[in-house]
Amino acid sequence: MKDQFPIFERKINGKELVYLDNAATTQKPNQVIEAMNDYYRLSNANVHRAVHTLAGEATEGYEECRKLLKKRFNAGRAIITSGTTEAINLVAHSWGHSNLNAGDVVVLTEMEHHSDIVPWQMLAERKSIELRYVPVSDGKLDMNAFEVALEGAKLVCVVHTSNVLGIRNPIEKIISFSKNRGAKILLDAAQAVPHELIDFKETGADFMAFSAHKMCGPTGIGALLVSEEAFKEMQPFMGGGDMIDTVTLSGSTFQADEHKFEAGTPRIAEGVGWSAALEWISKIDLLNHHQRLLSIARDVKVSLEERGMTVYSPLGPGDAAVISFTHPSIHPEDFARLLDAQGVAVRTGHHCAQPLMERLGVNGTIRASFYLYNDHNDSEKFLFAIDRVMEAML
Ligand code: ALA
Repeated sequence: MKDQFPIFERKINGKELVYLDNAATTQKPNQVIEAMNDYYRLSNANVHRAVHTLAGEATEGYEECRKLLKKRFNAGRAIITSGTTEAINLVAHSWGHSNLNAGDVVVLTEMEHHSDIVPWQMLAERKSIELRYVPVSDGKLDMNAFEVALEGAKLVCVVHTSNVLGIRNPIEKIISFSKNRGAKILLDAAQAVPHELIDFKETGADFMAFSAHKMCGPTGIGALLVSEEAFKEMQPFMGGGDMIDTVTLSGSTFQADEHKFEAGTPRIAEGVGWSAALEWISKIDLLNHHQRLLSIARDVKVSLEERGMTVYSPLGPGDAAVISFTHPSIHPEDFARLLDAQGVAVRTGHHCAQPLMERLGVNGTIRASFYLYNDHNDSEKFLFAIDRVMEAML
C-alpha cells in the first residue's frame, strides 16, 4: 500500500521512513493530494454565493463531503468543523451554553484528551456546572465509578478510543447506561473512525466528533455528527456570512440546517480532499487491517517488554494498534530523537492527556501508533532501531 503514499519515497536522515506517529496524523494517499491540487488549479471559488460555474463546482465539491460523511457514518446531521477540537467546543458553546445551568452535571473521564476536558472546564467556570471525572483503574475506565458519576448527569463526554493507550472503551455500555439515566452523550471518536466503521445512529450517541487527518484526509477539517433531537436544542454561537437566512439592522434569522454552524468561508479545498479520502477508505477492509495491525502491535509489545520497557497499552480485542511505553532510564525525548536519526517517527510526551499521565504515574511516554500502510517490515525496523538506541544510551 505504501506506493499509494508519496511521502514514503523520501528518506529521513538517509533511512527509509518508518512512520509510527499515526495517532497524531496519518499520511495522505495520491488521490487526496491530487484532489486538493486539482481543486485549486481548476475549480477554486467560494461556496454558496455566486452562480458562476466555478462557484457551482466549489459548492458541489464541499457539499459532497457532507453527503459522504452522512452516508459513511449513517448520520442525519453533519456539521463541518476545523477538527475534533472545534467540534467539541461547538457542543460546549452551542448546546452546552443553552442547555446547561448552574449545578448541572457533566461526566468526563480521566482518559480524555485535553480537547474534551478544557472546553468543559471553561464552560464550568462561566456557568457553574459540575464536572465529574470517571477514574481509570488498572488502565481501564472504572465502570462502577461511572455508574455512580451518572447520578443526575445531563451530559456524558467520553473518548471512544484512547489516543494514549489505544483502548477502545465499552462505548455500547456507556451509551446505554447514560441513555437510561436521561443523559446526552458526546463521543470523541478522533482515534476510532480511522480504525472502525461507526454507525452513528446505531450507537445512540447525540454527538460524535472526529477529524479528517487521522483517516488519511487533510488537516484543518473535521465533523460533528448530531442526533436530530440534540440538533433542535443547539443554537449557533459563531455569527457571520453564510449561516444566516435574513439580516436587518434590528436582528437576524439563521439557516435551518447545518450551515447555521458554519459561519464564514468554509474549508473548501479540505472538504474536497476529505471527500477523496472518504472514497479511498471506503474501499479498504478496516476490520481486516485492524486485526492485522493489532497482531503486529502485540508482537511488538512482547519484544519491548523483553527489552525491559514498561508497556501501558493493553492491546485487547477492539483496541487500536497504539503502543505507549517507557524505558526505566532513557528519557522518552532522547529515545525519540535517536529513533528519528534512524528514520523512525514516533511521538513522545503527555499526548495532550496530562490527567491520564498522572494516573499512570509518568510524565510522558513514547508512543508508536500503526496504520493501514504499516507492516511487519516497519515493526522489525522499529525494534532494530530500539536496540541501537539502547546500545547508544546504556
Ligand atoms: N491528538 C493527537 C495525538 O494524540 C494530536 O497525537
